[in-house]
Amino acid sequence: MAQVALITGASSGLGEQFAHRFARDGHDVILVARNEARLNALAERLRISKVRTFTLPFDLADPTTPEKLFAAVKALGLEVDFLVNNAGFGSNGPFLELDVKREVEMVQVNCTAILELCHRFVVPMKARGRGRVLNIASTAGFQPGPYMATYYATKAFVLSFSEALSHELAGTGVTVTASCPGATSTEFAKVAGNDTSRLFQRPGVAKAEDVVHDAYEAMMQGEALTVHGWLNYLAFQSLRFSPRAVARSIAASLNKPPGA
Ligand SMILES: NC(=O)c1ccc[n+]([C@@H]2O[C@H](COP(=O)([O-])OP(=O)(O)OC[C@H]3O[C@@H](n4cnc5c(N)ncnc54)[C@H](OP(=O)(O)O)[C@@H]3O)[C@@H](O)[C@H]2O)c1
Repeated sequence: MAQVALITGASSGLGEQFAHRFARDGHDVILVARNEARLNALAERLRISKVRTFTLPFDLADPTTPEKLFAAVKALGLEVDFLVNNAGFGSNGPFLELDVKREVEMVQVNCTAILELCHRFVVPMKARGRGRVLNIASTAGFQPGPYMATYYATKAFVLSFSEALSHELAGTGVTVTASCPGATSTEFAKVAGNDTSRLFQRPGVAKAEDVVHDAYEAMMQGEALTVHGWLNYLAFQSLRFSPRAVARSIAASLNKPPGA
């Protein structure tokens, strides 16, 4: 029987590519995001793979969503074998000038929803003795990020939480992988309002397909952590020895909006 992957943030970017990859490998997919029309269009495109597709339009900024999503999956009679916590967004600008409501929503979507979905879906995975979780963190999780302060902090949370959970679950048959992409060509930068920043204007912005390939393989191998791209990996390693003030300044120069 086909295994089932639940992918949040499946309506665009990395999530859409994850859906294609799971379907290509013969796994049924549950597609979650707010934009129902986009989810349905993706489900239609996936028909060629002959897997079952389920679209569940939910807003993960709503604190009641993880519980409702778990119940909706149960009502469909499905058990989740792969949980991909991919939905997320950022914002760009001096923290005090940003809309605080949206910053709080970001913590809900990028952190709290992941925490709760991991708890709800991993309990049954552990009872069955198998399952794989893939949480999309970011290279932003390695250091503080002035002008994207909340976003960088949310990704530090995802990274720390995922690694800790991966350790706790060793030997249970359930693995947890944190994927750390660097700047990648999706709708992320436009949504965050930093598509003109140095971070996204420099050469080397990754393709979504490549990031997804790396993350998918790492999850299937049960690796705790994967950093996409050798330059990002080098930055990851060098940050362990760099003074925090230097790391902060470099991140600030990459994120600083014009006039800030
Ligand atoms: N692109 C990069 O440079 C980059 C680098 C490192 C990490 N990442 C991470 O990669 C993940 C995927 O982002 P992406 O690059 O693929 O960006 P994207 O193209 O903007 O996709 C983001 C996805 O998250 C969903 N989403 C956003 N808010 C949501 C909400 N309140 N409820 C439910 N779904 C929500 C969006 O769907 P709806 O709008 O339909 O709800 C969309 O499907 C994110 O966690 C991001 O932080 C991205």
